Amino acid sequence: MEQEVERYRKPTRILHWIHGGAFVVLFLTGLILFIPQLGILAQDSWTRVIHRIAAVLFVVVPLIYIPLNWKATLRGIKNAFTWGREDIGWLKAAPRYYFLCDEETMPPQPHMNTGQKMWWFMVIVFGLIFVITGLIMWAFKTVAPAALLQWMVFIHDVAFIATGCMLFVHIYLSVIHPLMRPTRTGAWSSMARGKVSVEYAKSHHGKWYEEITKAKEVQSE
Ligand code: HEM
Ligand code: HEM
Repeated sequence: MEQEVERYRKPTRILHWIHGGAFVVLFLTGLILFIPQLGILAQDSWTRVIHRIAAVLFVVVPLIYIPLNWKATLRGIKNAFTWGREDIGWLKAAPRYYFLCDEETMPPQPHMNTGQKMWWFMVIVFGLIFVITGLIMWAFKTVAPAALLQWMVFIHDVAFIATGCMLFVHIYLSVIHPLMRPTRTGAWSSMARGKVSVEYAKSHHGKWYEEITKAKEVQSE
């Protein structure tokens, strides 16, 4: 049996799939509202109702997760907002790595590489933008000035386009790109089962693997 290491704990995986699932529903129902030609699907307001139900999940699930897992949350936020020389190394190597599958040029990566940090960063920043603009459109539709509502729709739409594009990149890189497979022991497995093979950890997140093995050695001393 191949040796494995834990990459994402169960609460993190549950948060990912419910929150990510709600986001995908918001994206699809938002798309129907955004494209006038799809207006026929929005008849009877079902799309709007589903959009609002998914919005509640999108807000409530992290609100439950954060106080129960505040250490992991702070670590994640710190990670997403800390940028340094290491990230320049990743940016330089990324074109050859992702387009030519050249693994030699990529320096050893921590738990989250720069691309993953960018996604985290976008989820936090645009997530807040969605919530603020969405709540104003929802709760103050009849009382807010028309110009304010127009701005909220515009900002909501910009966030929709930016995160929508990144979502496709995220899904492609997490489950389809040849370097992120094999599925049972690679990126997919990290979010599905919480574990990756030692070989995958070493080749994709070498710096992180070194950190966790050192920490284990100290513990057993
Ligand atoms: C339904 C389609 C999705 C699939 C198949 C998917 C798959 C994955 C996988 C396999 C990972 C682990 C990557 C790794 O550590 O190597 C991951 C991580 C992550 N996912 Fe998703 N995901 C999806 C949707 C989403 C959505 C909608 C969001 C945001 C609301 C999201 C946010 C994240 C974040 C923040 C991480 C950690 C950073 C990263 O690895 O990029 N995911 N996802
Ligand atoms: C807490 C989160 C969110 C809330 C409260 C929210 C709320 C709303 C509301 C109230 C509307 C107006 C619908 C109507 O016309 O009655 C709307 C429209 C829309 N939402 Fe959201 N939303 C949220 C998140 C999202 C996300 C994550 C996406 C996409 C990824 C999204 C995409 C859209 C789009 C494209 C529209 C159509 C705007 C237009 O008419 O051009 N929303 N949202």
